[in-house]
Amino acid sequence: MNILLLGSGGREHAMACQLAASRQCSTLYVAPGNAGTAAMANHYSNTIVQNVDMQPTDFQAIHAWVLKNDVEMVVVGPEAPLVAGIRDYFASQPALRNVMVIGPSKQCAQLEGSKDYAKEFMKRNNIPTAAYRTFTADTLQDGIAFLHTLKAPYVLKADGLAAGKGVLILPTLEEAERELSAMLKDAKFGEASAKVVIEEYLSGIELSVFVLSDGKHYKILPTAKDYKRIGENDTGLNTGGMGSISPVHFADKSFMKKVEERIVVPTVKGLFQEGTPYKGFIFVGLMAVTNDTTHELDPYVIEYNVRMGDPETESVFPRIKSDMVDLLERVWRGNLQQTTLEIDPRAAACVMAVAEGYPEHYEKGKRIRGIDHVRGSMVFHAGTRLDNEGNVLTNGGRVLCVTTLASSMPEAMLKSYQELAKISWDGMYYRRDIGQDLLKLIVTK
Ligand code: AMP
Ligand code: GLY
Repeated sequence: MNILLLGSGGREHAMACQLAASRQCSTLYVAPGNAGTAAMANHYSNTIVQNVDMQPTDFQAIHAWVLKNDVEMVVVGPEAPLVAGIRDYFASQPALRNVMVIGPSKQCAQLEGSKDYAKEFMKRNNIPTAAYRTFTADTLQDGIAFLHTLKAPYVLKADGLAAGKGVLILPTLEEAERELSAMLKDAKFGEASAKVVIEEYLSGIELSVFVLSDGKHYKILPTAKDYKRIGENDTGLNTGGMGSISPVHFADKSFMKKVEERIVVPTVKGLFQEGTPYKGFIFVGLMAVTNDTTHELDPYVIEYNVRMGDPETESVFPRIKSDMVDLLERVWRGNLQQTTLEIDPRAAACVMAVAEGYPEHYEKGKRIRGIDHVRGSMVFHAGTRLDNEGNVLTNGGRVLCVTTLASSMPEAMLKSYQELAKISWDGMYYRRDIGQDLLKLIVTK
């Protein structure tokens, strides 16, 4: 089968490895891909891997490519093509109708595209989440009055997609009032903050749970935790993600039973019953909050995303032993219940290395050395490209990551750091504490 994967990050490199390894995959096209997916061209005896210079939201170009190259499956990495309706586009074109598009419809993608839509969905389906209300410029005064009923810190969320910057957590009432006004009246995040969700602050530990849904049935993928801040000990600016680990030890059987019963089942069932069955990956961002009465951890949904996480995919996907193309074909056909998900019991630790200055201003085009010296770990490229001589250059803020599978989390972490130390470029930076917070939790428990 010929497969087209859309995207160019570390997530897509990790997905590409799983797709290309499937016995069912004859050619894997990655659009636009990066230097890592380009290097996959020579790695498989039975699979051709090729980058295609095409943007994931250019539906016309994708349409033409799919027909010309007999593509039978399109796997969508990032959210933008989903929110723009790639699934609906394929369904509307007679020649594309039978192509298996792995990713939800435009309507379902609103779970990520609109915070208000997601909160309304959770409320209707009794899915645990922070209490909230939504405001517009016309109801700014009501919003300010609502802030006065809450305790600090204050959580303000731009309704629409704001490149991951639309959530503000503010320590004082004055700042919260000022920012609410800036979002609603001065369009701080443009159209995205025409509506603002104000919600109760949840105190706990975050984790990511991924669900693969065929519309009716689902499989829960391994749990992961990502590290969003640029600085060690979770300090400094938010980034796209500085590393991840999988599994998350505190998400034990009893916690995951609650996640399944209270969140996964009502989410998949709710979408089905509301006439918008979801086919694809659901990323549930959770806060594990200690219950005052039972002293147990309870899961609350912080957000839904309609795709896999990045860099969570780089620690979750290497642990999936089942044939990925078979799983995705089942998602399309609606028979995911007929297979079992095989998971590697080993722990995965992924450390992301970034360009100097990221997530603010940074330079591109630095020569990367040492990737070939890595042994026993995986290198997933994010922002990289090849120059004309075949050298690998930096081409983004998040540049590449190293993932290791090992029998314990400390071993996986140590090995990822040892291997990452073999790689270098001018201005390379990475956090040296990925996973450390959880180790401290285990020690102090
Ligand atoms: P989101 O874009 O919704 O994932 O929010 C970005 C980050 O803000 C999350 O990863 C959390 O760390 C934090 N956050 C969002 N909502 C809340 C909340 N209700 N309580 C505490 N932290 C939150
Ligand atoms: N790692 C968080 C995200 O992919 O949104």
